Amino acid sequence: MTLREALRKAAERLERHFVSSPRLNAEVLLAYCLKADKTYLYTHDDRVLNADEQQCLEDALYERVSGVPVQYIVGRQEFFGRYFRVNRSVLIPRPETEFIVEAVLGLKPADCAAILDVGTGSGCSGITLALELPKARLTITDVSMEALNVARSNATQLGANVSIACMDLLDAVGGSFDFIVSNPPYISPQESSNLQTEVREHEPHVALFADDDGAGMFRKLIPSAARVLKPGGYLILEIGAGMEQRVLSLFGPQWNRLPTRADLQGIPRTIMAQRQ
Ligand SMILES: C[S@@+](CC[C@H](N)C(=O)[O-])C[C@H]1O[C@@H](n2cnc3c(N)ncnc32)[C@H](O)[C@@H]1O
Repeated sequence: MTLREALRKAAERLERHFVSSPRLNAEVLLAYCLKADKTYLYTHDDRVLNADEQQCLEDALYERVSGVPVQYIVGRQEFFGRYFRVNRSVLIPRPETEFIVEAVLGLKPADCAAILDVGTGSGCSGITLALELPKARLTITDVSMEALNVARSNATQLGANVSIACMDLLDAVGGSFDFIVSNPPYISPQESSNLQTEVREHEPHVALFADDDGAGMFRKLIPSAARVLKPGGYLILEIGAGMEQRVLSLFGPQWNRLPTRADLQGIPRTIMAQRQ
């Protein structure tokens, strides 16, 4: 079978199983099995797949039509222009989380700023900040040891200098910080049925769900951050759709709230506050 035929058949199969963007998914999976980039598929479309490549594509298509996110199949996701390794222990980094990075960079941290990324998952935000701000001192934490193993491998592969610690929110934090960033779990268990099946069945629940109305993590994190931030330090948080007022109401008088940043769909997404 040539690459051209393999691509056509793969896209048709994905479409029959109602996978969205079937052609794009087929390209990504075929390129992954060939260890090539997408351009190669079109510049070598007469080339014939060998047996290993055909088997790899068959396995990948089987997983994809079973609902496994394409990023877990190929094992990576782009974030802020770099590829991060992902597996089922970590949330797949989302484009809206790049606003956390942009928010920190926009506040022009001093050289040697101390920055903490709480609930780092794949490490996407904390490692990106370490690479964008090479003089900053980055600490990345998570309650999940499996997630931290992925973050550690991303830090090594991307050449980022970060300190890594396993803890529940800020429980074991030593020292004080100029910035704390976090994209904590913020979906209430009651909203579980509204999630895409792909997300609910394949992404780690520790990364998705928080107590009560979904704001449980913010209720704990905001007061603890007030203790750990230096005066004038910033807390930058990603929130879920419809949470802005609930989360803003958790900031007491020791905080100056900055305008919330909306994502590309106009949903208030990134909250910023400065410790007085
Ligand atoms: C929504 S994911 C975000 C991951 C990553 N920062 C990102 O933006 O892609 C939330 C992360 O918080 C971690 N987490 C959940 N509960 C936690 C807790 N009590 N303390 C620290 N981290 C926690 C999860 O393991 C998960 O990696």
